[in-house]
Amino acid sequence: MSKKLYIKTYGCQMNVYDSLRMADVLAPLGYEETDSPAHADMVILNTCHIREKAAEKVYSDLGRIREEKERQAGEGKKILIAVAGCVAQAEGEEIIARAPYVDMVVGPQSYHTLPDLICKTDRSRKSAVALDFIEEQKFDLLPESLKSQGVSAFVSVQEGCDKFCTFCVVPYTRGAEYSRPVAAIEKEVRAQVAMGAIEIVLLGQNVNAYHGEGADGKEWSFAQLLARIAAIPGIARLRYTTSHPKEMTEDLIRAHGDIENLMPMLHLPVQSGADRILKAMNRKHTAADYIAIIEKLRAVRPDIALSSDFIVGFPGETERDFEDTLRLVETVGFASSYSFKYSPRPGTPAAEKDMQVEEPVKEERLARLQALIAQQQLAFNRTKLGAVMPVLFTREGRQNGQSLGKTPYLQSVYVEQGGELINRLVDVTITGAYANSLKGEVTSQGVISG
Ligand code: 5AD
Ligand code: SF4
Repeated sequence: MSKKLYIKTYGCQMNVYDSLRMADVLAPLGYEETDSPAHADMVILNTCHIREKAAEKVYSDLGRIREEKERQAGEGKKILIAVAGCVAQAEGEEIIARAPYVDMVVGPQSYHTLPDLICKTDRSRKSAVALDFIEEQKFDLLPESLKSQGVSAFVSVQEGCDKFCTFCVVPYTRGAEYSRPVAAIEKEVRAQVAMGAIEIVLLGQNVNAYHGEGADGKEWSFAQLLARIAAIPGIARLRYTTSHPKEMTEDLIRAHGDIENLMPMLHLPVQSGADRILKAMNRKHTAADYIAIIEKLRAVRPDIALSSDFIVGFPGETERDFEDTLRLVETVGFASSYSFKYSPRPGTPAAEKDMQVEEPVKEERLARLQALIAQQQLAFNRTKLGAVMPVLFTREGRQNGQSLGKTPYLQSVYVEQGGELINRLVDVTITGAYANSLKGEVTSQGVISG
């Protein structure tokens, strides 16, 4: 009999990918995914530990799921609750102490053990915990990804991080850097393409640090991997995320000029524009290094659009440091960006520092930075007015009869035209440009692919 599995995913795209893989692991046990926890036999929260807010959200959601569990228990039905992802890895047993109704705690390197954990909790009625770091094997131990992800598919190429930025939990929750072999990645990409993917997004916490085993048995760079994947027939769009400036090697920069289906949009987090703060963050590059990379990228791919992550209020950040960040934003000109108030994370070096910045100062800096980013995003969107761009439609718009898709630069576009566009790459004339989206009309030529 089929059982229902509800997975809630928090945080980054790596978690989105891992949630798909957990569904793959549980499919042979008869679990089918559902989009509501109310009908689920098992609920997995695939959590994020990157900032305090994200981690606390898990506990408030757990409270609600507990009520559901108790209600169902009254009707003689058992709901299994699992906490997976980075909060699981970081907090482990503490989760069960705080929420004893949780049946399983499973870290990102242990998803292949889910069937075992289910058996264990069935037998003993005690909560089970799996938090081992066995990166080498994670991908080998998971079943092959069998399900289609649709027209746009994520494929994980590396995991973990050895950079140890002083604000970041990732090296602790995801462990040491590990790159999958090229052959395994290629196989997974080809399978997704055979099932209908025309856009492939290569994922890794530090994706451009990739150094996996190549087709010739030697270590390949990320640029080599990109060239190999880009050549697979049927891939109209190739993207990758997230990168570190330190790993933007000359060959990778060149790839942005050479590889036609590599999309002209790069997410390259800089975090701060002040060298003093970059040093304290252990970023291993200066603001000038970052700007030099952008200049080189623009030389090989003049239309490339950039996005970044920023942290404001890192310990010791002065008004002058923050102004350096604003200046860097002005110099580069971003198409979009994410910005966050610094959130001290237990166990990371920056959390231990004196000179924590006051909350109101963080708020004020965040507001100023976001105003500048919003202004740049609108300006970038406006440059596309009147342009004809291929748009990959993936879902219906908010209003009836609308379809929503993405430009090569990852801008959201909606058109007043219904469902037949979805899952297709279509030429669209841009007729409206707003803060967070574009409006368009399908050109007479219409469908390119799909
Ligand atoms: N506080 C605030 N933002 C953080 N990020 C990572 N760690 C922290 C933290 N402790 C941000 C960085 C990173 C993005 C994924 O999250 O900008 O690039
Ligand atoms: Fe969150 Fe980072 Fe873990 Fe992704 S890798 S889930 S963003 S802490």
